[in-house]
Amino acid sequence: MEHIYPIFDKMLSRQDKERLLGQRGLMIWFTGLSGSGKSTVAIALERELHKRGLLCRILDGDNIRCGINNNLGFSPADRVENIRRIAEVGKLFVDTGIITIAAFISPNNDLREMAAKIIGKDNFVEVYISTPIEVCEQRDVKGLYAKARRGEIKDFTGVSAPFEAPQSPDLELDTSSLSLEESVNSLLNYILPKIELKK
Ligand code: ADX
Repeated sequence: MEHIYPIFDKMLSRQDKERLLGQRGLMIWFTGLSGSGKSTVAIALERELHKRGLLCRILDGDNIRCGINNNLGFSPADRVENIRRIAEVGKLFVDTGIITIAAFISPNNDLREMAAKIIGKDNFVEVYISTPIEVCEQRDVKGLYAKARRGEIKDFTGVSAPFEAPQSPDLELDTSSLSLEESVNSLLNYILPKIELKK
C-alpha cells in the first residue's frame, strides 16, 4: 500500500516473546455446528493449559460478534469477513507467542483455508467438533435451532445454510460420545508437544 510503512523490522520478534513466555505460539482452530460444544471444549482446554503455566487467549463467535465484528451478519460475504478479521487478530496473538483458541462455526473449507493461510499453516491446528446436528439441535442451548426451523432466523448453519465438514482435520471430537475430560485430554496430547519451546 502506498504511504504505509510497517515498522515490523524494528519490533522485538516472535522468538523474543516465545522465549519470555517459555512456550510456542499456536492457533487451535475449532470448527463445528452451533451447539456442537466448541466453546465448552475451548474453555476447558484453556483452563488446563493455564494450570500448566501456559498463556492462552480464546476468541469466540458470540463475543467477537458483539465487538470487533458487530457490523457483520451471516451472509456468505459477511462470514468471510468475520473469519478474515478473526484470522488477522489471531495472527497477532500467535505472533506474540500466545496459544490462541478460536471457536467459530467457520462452515466452509474455503473459510478455514483462508484462516490457515493468514495465520500460517505451521501455526494452525484444525479441530473438528463433529457432534451430529441431531444432538446439537436437541441441546439447542440458545433456542436458535427452534427459531431457525420456524423460519425466524434465515441462513442458519445446518438448517438453511450449509456446513462442510473438514476433509482432514488434525483432530476430530464428537462431544456426544466423548466426555469433556476425554476431549480435553486428546487435545492436550496433541497440542502440548507442539507448544514446547525447543532449546
Ligand atoms: S461463522 O459461521 O461466521 O463462523 P460464528 O461462529 O461467528 O459463525 O457465529 C455463530 C454464532 O452466531 C452461533 O453460535 C449462534 O449463536 C449465532 N447465530 C446467529 N445467527 C446465526 C446464523 N444464521 N447461523 C449461524 N449462527 C448464528
